Amino acid sequence: MNKKIIVLSGDGIGPEVIAQAEKVIKAVDVTYNHKFELENGLIGASSIDTTGEPLTDEVIEKCKNADAVLLGAIGDPKYDNDPSIKVRPEQGLLKLRKALELYSNIRPINTYDILKEVSPLKNEKLEGVDLVIYRELTGGIYFGEKKLSADGNTASDLCSYSKEEVSRIAKLAFEAAQLRSKKLTLVDKANVLETSRLWRKVVQDMAADYPEVNVEYMFVDNAAMQLVLNPASFDVVLTENMFGDITSDLASVLTGSLGMLPSSSLGKNVGMFEPCHGSYPQAAGKDVANPMATILSVAMMYDYFGLYDEAIAIRESVNWALKEHVVTEDITKENPSPCSVVGDLIAYHIEEQGDVQLNKNYIKDSKNCII
Ligand code: IPM
Ligand code: MG
Repeated sequence: MNKKIIVLSGDGIGPEVIAQAEKVIKAVDVTYNHKFELENGLIGASSIDTTGEPLTDEVIEKCKNADAVLLGAIGDPKYDNDPSIKVRPEQGLLKLRKALELYSNIRPINTYDILKEVSPLKNEKLEGVDLVIYRELTGGIYFGEKKLSADGNTASDLCSYSKEEVSRIAKLAFEAAQLRSKKLTLVDKANVLETSRLWRKVVQDMAADYPEVNVEYMFVDNAAMQLVLNPASFDVVLTENMFGDITSDLASVLTGSLGMLPSSSLGKNVGMFEPCHGSYPQAAGKDVANPMATILSVAMMYDYFGLYDEAIAIRESVNWALKEHVVTEDITKENPSPCSVVGDLIAYHIEEQGDVQLNKNYIKDSKNCII
């Protein structure tokens, strides 16, 4: 298969984790005889530094004409603590989500036996955890009108949703629930917010079309608590933009590291694939970031293309790396592997179709650790 992928590495650890994802795409190309053409573009702080804008129209056009977009991470601390700055890296990401109409952000939360010790939750709480968050991505308070009064003393952000915006993502979430454990939890704040009451009404009306799906409604504050107390009780979580942002970081704790969480963003045309984590500037350039979230996002990209064997091979190679203790410092303090070595070995494992033996003494150096 031939595909064109626009690669936006972004800021901080973005370029490092993306470099590992590119190794994986090349390994899949070789092993399965595909030709994925990768073309780079700028976004975020790195784009502001070069072009003055967090995302140029030229890059948006490239993305619109591609088969998929692979994104690293966005954000730079030099913008975070100065509220008066008008041009911000994150605006590039929001503009891209809107321009590509990526209204559905899908964030699967899995647990891995090997990581159960890394999670701060007790092991028994993690038994049977397998959930997926469907986060609305192009509406709500993120995109509503923003105002700051002339004297700078009053500010507002409008949260608005239309029935159409709710029903299109709800449809995807219901369909996912049908294929999974047939349970859907709408997370909202319907006891306070008008937009949440609209979400409930739309979802209640749609529920009749999916009689086999058990629909549950939960206020977001309670959902935050239940995700920690009783995470295995969730299957598909459907929620609006900001609640999805917050609950997905919270849910990453179940897996053990935010560095493990992939995501796909789907809409009308092109799909975008990105790790859930941020740009982790403290680690940038140190070769210590966990590339697995980005690599697992690449697996979601192959699923999106219908290339399921390739997606399975990538996930198996990630599982193998976890079992072989080829993991970065967020997962282990004992002999962590560099980001680049994790990427090398996962790519190698794909190319060798699982037939890899490691010499553990050399694990820090990918060239010498393969027997
Ligand atoms: C995410 C991020 C973004 C968001 C930021 C970088 C704008 O936190 O993808 O979860 O809030 O959507
Ligand atoms: Mg977030």
